[in-house]
Amino acid sequence: MQITRKVTDDLYWVGANEHRLHLFENIHPLPTGVSYNAYLLLDEKTVLFDTVDWSSARQFLENIEYVLNGRPLDYLLINHLEPDHAASIDEILVRHPETQVISNEKAFMLMHQFGFHIDGENKQIEVKEGDTFSFGKHTVTFVAAPMVHWPEAMVTLDVTNGVLFSADAFGTFNSIDGHLFADEVDFWSPYWLDEARRYLVNIVGKYGPHIQALLAKAGTVLDKIKFVCPLHGPVWRADENLLKFIGLYDKWSRYEPEENGILIIYASMYGNTEAAAMNLASKLSERGFNNYKVYDVSKTHVSYLISETFRYSHVALMSVTYNLGIFPPMHDYLYDMKALNLQKRTFAVVENGSWAPKAGDLIEEYLTQELKEMTVLSGRVTVNSSVNESSDRELAELAETLIDSVNEA
Ligand SMILES: Cc1cc2nc3c(=O)[nH]c(=O)nc-3n(C[C@H](O)[C@H](O)[C@H](O)COP(=O)(O)O)c2cc1C
Ligand SMILES: [Fe+2]
Ligand SMILES: [Fe+2]
Repeated sequence: MQITRKVTDDLYWVGANEHRLHLFENIHPLPTGVSYNAYLLLDEKTVLFDTVDWSSARQFLENIEYVLNGRPLDYLLINHLEPDHAASIDEILVRHPETQVISNEKAFMLMHQFGFHIDGENKQIEVKEGDTFSFGKHTVTFVAAPMVHWPEAMVTLDVTNGVLFSADAFGTFNSIDGHLFADEVDFWSPYWLDEARRYLVNIVGKYGPHIQALLAKAGTVLDKIKFVCPLHGPVWRADENLLKFIGLYDKWSRYEPEENGILIIYASMYGNTEAAAMNLASKLSERGFNNYKVYDVSKTHVSYLISETFRYSHVALMSVTYNLGIFPPMHDYLYDMKALNLQKRTFAVVENGSWAPKAGDLIEEYLTQELKEMTVLSGRVTVNSSVNESSDRELAELAETLIDSVNEA
């Protein structure tokens, strides 16, 4: 049974919802799914914009046949070759030998590397930034979007009706389950916004400057954009919500925090560092500061920690020493900050050690030497096995230092 939605009179969403995959890219948890969006335009020519992951091909193929209603598929336009969107290219071409594929040079190279069977030169129409292509009533133009999220990525603007096919840009986690437009869901609720942030910062967070470059290009045609059709998550109509979302993209890609607030991220094997974290949290709260969140690094997938760290301005890292090193999940979290290019945050450091505490020095060294524009507050606390009167006093001072720093931010 087909499950499609109309974006405009002649443009259809023909994608699919993914509910079964546990890990996106086999790394990021997907507790509430994801959608693979693809769009089909019925003009004088018919045009399919991108495909879906192989796991969702069955629904996608039913959708396409329903919308085509017996018409040939003239063109398949590929904006992004990552297999979550490109894996079904071969199946489309097997079912539609008449289809010509439109994409750019790098994408064609990748298509061949991945073993897609786009035989014959006449099947490939190579385009580059600034080219235009007409399908009848609709004319599109192509804009390169390198590293948002792969080097071949491009976005396509339908200049006739202002639809921007934005590839991974403006995508979110969460299956859309019948909703099509962002204004059909409560997008600013944590259910959507937290997953939008987690998607963006973990998938393309490393490439902030490339997102900035794409935003700058989009800025020049913003008045022409009427819809933004990403490859994941809901479609955006050009309204104040889209502007707000663009504003968040701008912030995230400049590594600016959304909020002045504190994350307490702790690593504890037997509960004593956890107790120190609770101690610090209660000291913040009793001083009237409540915009903080506490996470156990061992129990929280790092993609959530990274997402929260993009959101907040301050982080208290509290870690046991583990065989003279940083506790491994805490180390992974620090490594992910580096891998995703996270910058411009302020940290407080608390270490625990029972005979040779090392975590504090190692964390501070990592923050200041491996990461960019990170500030470490003075007043590091060393806990020897469990909090005593003296470390309790030091935690109180650290709470004051953190609050002062947040208030100054
Ligand atoms: C496997 C293991 C290795 C540890 N390695 C060190 C170490 O190298 N140096 C040190 O001072 N403490 C070490 N500790 C002690 C911890 O850093 C910490 O003081 C202790 O686990 C109490 O904190 P917790 O209850 O939060 O786990 C180790 C503990 C464990 C269980
Ligand atoms: Fe991608
Ligand atoms: Fe994607």
